Amino acid sequence: MKDASPATAPETFYLKDYKPFGFEVESVELIFRLAPEATRVLSKIRFVPREGAADPRFFLHGEELELISAQIDGEPVAPRLIDGGLECDVPSEPFTWESEVQINPAANTALEGLYMSNGMYCTQCEAEGFRKITFYPDRPDVMSTFKVRIEGTEPVMLSNGNPGDSGAGFAEWHDPWPKPAYLFALVAGELVNHPDRFTTASGKDVELNIWVRPGDETKCAFGMEALKKSMTWDEEVYGREYDLDVFNIVAVDDFNMGAMENKGLNIFNSSCVLASPETSTDMNFERIEAIIAHEYFHNWTGNRITCRDWFQLCLKEGLTVYRDAQFTADMRSEPVKRISDVIDLRARQFPEDGGPLAHPPRPEEFQEINNFYTATVYEKGAEVIGMLKRLVGDEAYYKALDLYFDRHDGQACTIEDWLEVFEDTTGRDMAQFKRWYSDAGTPRLKVAEEYDGETFTLTFQQSTAPTPGQDIKEPRVIPIAVGLLNDAGEEVVPTTVLEMTEAEQSFTFEGLSERPVPSILREFSAPVVLERETSAAERTFLLAHDTDPFNRWEAGRALAREARLAMITEGAAPDAAYLEALTSLVRDDALDPAFRALVLSPPSQSEIAQALHEAGTTPDPAAIHDAAETFSQTLAQAMADSLPRLYAATTVDGPYVPDAEGAGKRALNSAILGLLSRIDGGEAAAKQYEAADNMTLQLSALACLLRIEKGADQSAAFFEQWKDDRLVMDKWFGLQVSMARPEAAADVARSLCDHALFDMKNPNRFRAVMGALAGHHAGFHHASGAGYALLAEKLIALDALNPQTTARMCAAFQTWKRYDDDRQGKVRVELERILATEGLSRDTNEMVSRILN
Ligand code: PHE
Ligand code: ZN
Repeated sequence: MKDASPATAPETFYLKDYKPFGFEVESVELIFRLAPEATRVLSKIRFVPREGAADPRFFLHGEELELISAQIDGEPVAPRLIDGGLECDVPSEPFTWESEVQINPAANTALEGLYMSNGMYCTQCEAEGFRKITFYPDRPDVMSTFKVRIEGTEPVMLSNGNPGDSGAGFAEWHDPWPKPAYLFALVAGELVNHPDRFTTASGKDVELNIWVRPGDETKCAFGMEALKKSMTWDEEVYGREYDLDVFNIVAVDDFNMGAMENKGLNIFNSSCVLASPETSTDMNFERIEAIIAHEYFHNWTGNRITCRDWFQLCLKEGLTVYRDAQFTADMRSEPVKRISDVIDLRARQFPEDGGPLAHPPRPEEFQEINNFYTATVYEKGAEVIGMLKRLVGDEAYYKALDLYFDRHDGQACTIEDWLEVFEDTTGRDMAQFKRWYSDAGTPRLKVAEEYDGETFTLTFQQSTAPTPGQDIKEPRVIPIAVGLLNDAGEEVVPTTVLEMTEAEQSFTFEGLSERPVPSILREFSAPVVLERETSAAERTFLLAHDTDPFNRWEAGRALAREARLAMITEGAAPDAAYLEALTSLVRDDALDPAFRALVLSPPSQSEIAQALHEAGTTPDPAAIHDAAETFSQTLAQAMADSLPRLYAATTVDGPYVPDAEGAGKRALNSAILGLLSRIDGGEAAAKQYEAADNMTLQLSALACLLRIEKGADQSAAFFEQWKDDRLVMDKWFGLQVSMARPEAAADVARSLCDHALFDMKNPNRFRAVMGALAGHHAGFHHASGAGYALLAEKLIALDALNPQTTARMCAAFQTWKRYDDDRQGKVRVELERILATEGLSRDTNEMVSRILN
């Protein structure tokens, strides 16, 4: 019963058209009679007409529902079933709507609404999935309390809020906090729990549970600790307590996203909660801790205060990402977290902002809201909050947040409401700052510097290229954190935040007896591209001496990029001075190993392609790949003498502990192993593989071996060892593709799609293979076009099952206009092939159309 193909142009929704719903929902009571292919959902909803409503029409959303019966105040009615829902004539006084519908969870492969995953019932309602469960005003500004009764034979049956009565064949739940339907959740199945308790600051005792499939209960302890840390942190830093008697987390295997913040019943992709040293890497542990925190923090930023409409998505997502980043920085290392986030922002958000999918953090139109859960809404949305905090200062920031929670608790809000609490607490006018929410595109910031023997002047120019639908960009408010250093690397001017508001603006520093070395955009104080012409010598100086760790790393990154560009465009050898700087930094035991690992990890090939494109050169993926290989090989040879000693010195002894310190050491150790295996034929990696008692070491050894084409035996052994563990097998599938030679990547991915353990219906598995192909720059963009063709073929097949995941993965094509005509031609053929598919989903149709334009 999938939506029919958009025969006519699909409907576009606009922010400017917002109208409140004509009715308030006072209460919702739901009864679920579970059956895999024929679940019945009975609803009883109390509606109160709104005085003077702009739109008095009684329209309830509903999709893929079979209406069994409908009543108003106990009398049967005959609603008109229309596209996307129903209409009905209703009394002008408050009334009770009742309906019974039938749905088919077993047939639901889109994983939206009520569906089955491994025999277990579960739901996903954000953004617009509740309308696949029952007829309802499925919009975030309609908030109500929910009472839920689940009838079934499942041993565990959960919903939002606090538990009520339960007995043989039923369980009742009551959520006293008014919420929009997108936060509704239900889970039922054979589950076991990992229980714990938490006492809130005000002394409220809360029961905590992580629910998993039998066998997985040994993988819950880390997530539970992360949850308790998050609860404490939100009390201490934001003064926010938990507000129900129970907090449940459930792990499901089939899930489109990472996790979901349903009130009191968070549902997680099992990859984002299950952890054990044997099956999870350091990176997994860190990500799990961050996602548990993220979903928990949504209880206040998202649930207690929600969004008026989906255009305001970054109101909850940007703020919650910002909060989880603060949490990770506090739990682990602040500079390391910042550097990793910037790497991620540049890899995912900058290409989006600079291509056909560019949109503002608060979009003004969409066809399918699921296509706007993007790096721009999430990560740039968080950057915007970081800038706000930098501009107003910490004290004012927390004061504004207190006011936000106070003023808007229980409401569905807008970006205007959010900015107003800053205006009211600081007296600042936020009109210009608001452009960060309304304008797409990454500003470029040019710097010129001048010194007259006493005064040092920095002159900045900002400009933003046109983006789809936005030709002209007004100047934005840009906080530029600057510090000045002397020749000895001492700070002569400590970090100062310059507030740029004009298209061009100068800032002066007086009383300097020597020309200083400026360190600009410290901590990456704004999501912009800094264009600064500097000598390699100055970058090398900053790499060695900058007192701001972010900019220290940034100087190294710029050198790495320039070294590769010179290799590609001028046929230069890897820059000797840079190799030397890198070597001495890696050997510097006084530096945090995690930081050294970051300095050592090369810029991605996609980043180099982007840099070439910006410099006016058409990137050649094969040349970029060769330069990367040559560079690493040369570095390995230059460091040959010290690599075995460094490898030994960075090896972590003792039992595995997934903390930041150990993870940092292991990251450095594995980067060194990568270099070492280029010169020792894989000997050290093979030994590490043999001895590994945790997944971090096992996987890094396997990756090193596969990269030098020596890992066939280990790969087979790995498969035998882990073939029954879905999450570990995802790693195995992905690694085959990402370590393949460019010309082989598409073939490897194709044969993995034919593997007995490949499963189109499991988004994790699909992403493991096809996501790895899309991320293999030289493989995906191989001149044969095989990468493009395979991805298109698989996306077409997946679209019939799961439009949401298909549409998200179309973004792999968003950078296509960077490349040569031949490649562009090949991509165009594939995009047009997808678009011509009969019955193509609205989701994929929108994405491909935008990419083609
Ligand atoms: N709201 C979820 C989060 O931020 C993400 C999500 C969106 C999950 C849509 C499922 C569907 O964590
Ligand atoms: Zn979120």
